[in-house]
Amino acid sequence: MNSSSPINVLGICGSLRKASLNGALLRCAQRAAPNTIRFSTADISDIPPYNQDVNDLGFPPSVERFRRQVASADALLFVTPEYNYSIPGLLKNALDWASRGADQPFAHKPAAIMGASAGRFATARAQYHLRQVLVFLNVHPLNQPEIMIPTAQNLIGPDGEMRDDTTEAYLRKQLDALYIWTLHLQESSKPNKID
Ligand SMILES: Cc1cc2nc3c(=O)[nH]c(=O)nc-3n(C[C@H](O)[C@H](O)[C@H](O)COP(=O)(O)O)c2cc1C
Repeated sequence: MNSSSPINVLGICGSLRKASLNGALLRCAQRAAPNTIRFSTADISDIPPYNQDVNDLGFPPSVERFRRQVASADALLFVTPEYNYSIPGLLKNALDWASRGADQPFAHKPAAIMGASAGRFATARAQYHLRQVLVFLNVHPLNQPEIMIPTAQNLIGPDGEMRDDTTEAYLRKQLDALYIWTLHLQESSKPNKID
């Protein structure tokens, strides 16, 4: 990739329900994305509960697929609800599976985090838990801008359309920042040209 070609961003949503505010937010982000970003979306709905006995026999196909998607992405975008002050078990389980092995695909990936809730706290506690998990996976999360959307049912329509220009501008700002962060990390990982 060079600085003029788009980066591949893998969207990972922590909610499975059809009317998910976070699923809708991910679709909003895709629509708001600048042309420096090419999106794909992970399907983590069929990843089984983690069991090391199963893992000892290899990765289930759904986990293989998720690991491949993470490995081939230039950056990740997590869009997650908050469940009981943390990230949903579904998302943690997918991360647990994909994190196994020395070739775990998350290492050194740039990532951004967004979340929407129907209430006032806007997934803040879940996002900071997710950041803690990402430390061990050696992901490089973007710090700013944070996207935490309270009472999202007032901003995102039933078909996932964004009804608020200010929020949409924030989505774009974070994606622009993710693009710059990704280029920065790719540039700094290149071998030193001086020697
Ligand atoms: C098991 C469970 C736990 C929840 N815990 C929290 C919570 O800790 N904080 C919060 O703000 N909302 C909590 N909620 C409400 C969710 O934020 C709300 O249902 C949200 O719309 C779920 O995201 P989704 O619309 O993307 O599916 C919880 C919902 C569920 C189902």
